[in-house]
Amino acid sequence: MTQVQPSDFDLMDASLDGVAEKGFDITEDVYAAFFEKRPDARQYFKFEDIDPQGQGRMLTELLELLQDQARGRLHVRSSVRTIAADHLSYGVAALDLYTDFIEALRTTLRDSAGEAWTPETDAAWRRQAERLVKTIGRLPAKAPAA
Ligand code: HEM
Repeated sequence: MTQVQPSDFDLMDASLDGVAEKGFDITEDVYAAFFEKRPDARQYFKFEDIDPQGQGRMLTELLELLQDQARGRLHVRSSVRTIAADHLSYGVAALDLYTDFIEALRTTLRDSAGEAWTPETDAAWRRQAERLVKTIGRLPAKAPAA
């Protein structure tokens, strides 16, 4: 009997539903994990207290990009190009900042999901994270015109 493997999108979607059902808002934890690994990243956020709504928007955008990429939406490349250019103007240029931010998202989701997080779920998130970082890395590293 052939078994249909769930797609990365399905696996990611199920894990997000699982975390949402538990009533977790992961925003604070993702930033805490990111800043723990990258205390140097705080310098890019201009205000002493980072706007919590801005934090939420950044995370929502990232989640949408990862999910859209997983289901083959074509806008991802151009959206990433715009986001990367915007971020250059905040001084965010190093690719490993993106790697570490997306990693903070994956580990926070994993820790929030508990037993519902399977090796397949983990592989799906890792695969899509790697793809997104590769896409960002392939963009021409050029500061936007002043
Ligand atoms: C693919 C990953 C990322 C996505 C999709 C993303 C998305 C966004 C979005 C949509 C905003 C605007 C938020 C608003 O409406 O106020 C934003 C702001 C910002 N992002 Fe990102 N971001 C990403 C990664 C990063 C990384 C790795 C850093 C590194 C420090 C960073 C630093 C910032 C800063 C400094 C702002 C300005 C707003 C503030 O000071 O609070 N972002 N990001």
